[in-house]
Amino acid sequence: MNKKNRSIAIDGDSGSGKSTVGKMLASRLGFLFVDSGLLYRAATFIITSKHKENEPRLWTNIIKNSSIDLDSKGKVKINNDFVDLKDLRSEIVDKWVSPVSTVKEIRSVITNTLRKIASDKSVVMVGRDIGTVVLKDAFLKIYLTASLTERAKRRFMELIGKGEKITFQDVLENLKERDIIDSSRDVAPLMVASDAVVIDTTNISADDVVNKIIEFYKGREYVIRNIPRTGESII
Ligand code: DC
Repeated sequence: MNKKNRSIAIDGDSGSGKSTVGKMLASRLGFLFVDSGLLYRAATFIITSKHKENEPRLWTNIIKNSSIDLDSKGKVKINNDFVDLKDLRSEIVDKWVSPVSTVKEIRSVITNTLRKIASDKSVVMVGRDIGTVVLKDAFLKIYLTASLTERAKRRFMELIGKGEKITFQDVLENLKERDIIDSSRDVAPLMVASDAVVIDTTNISADDVVNKIIEFYKGREYVIRNIPRTGESII
């Protein structure tokens, strides 16, 4: 990464507000917003569209024979065709995306794509392993968290708003399960980078979180300390 690259890595639990905050932050700074979860969702969408979700041994080959990319505005393309966001955030993709993203070879394909995107421009990239693996030398690393109930509430409202028929309990269980898979997988588990700033968004508006990150960005106030995943937040 060159010296002018001021990329910001935002990692965090499902529903912690990464996408909302990341999008607002990128627009304030004039950076490209990259939601890495969408690439894992695209891989999962390819697999589930072929009805191969129950055959994990076929997954890597299917993905290696497809192309997943982002255009210059951060929109997802599968085999050069744009994909509808609704298809990437469907219930079946929600169900299978964590298992798919435990596969080392699939992670490696997606990590390379993400690094290529950030190689010549500053980005705000959100995900689970951005500060720890994909952009280890990011200018600023943020880790967002929030209580499970608050995260489930946000996701539930989002899905209901889209007209999906789902119960709060289903959303809560899905998040709980994804938390466990995402943080316990062998390859690139969800972790707090040792040089990340941890922000608990449970009781803070997205606007305030963005303002806070911009303060850190401007002042480059790095908090260099080892914060365990369950450790104390600084905000
Ligand atoms: O952010 P999201 O909920 O759209 O992400 C969907 C899944 O993708 C998440 O359960 C784990 C996986 N993921 C990942 O393993 N690494 C990333 N950098 C981003 C997402």
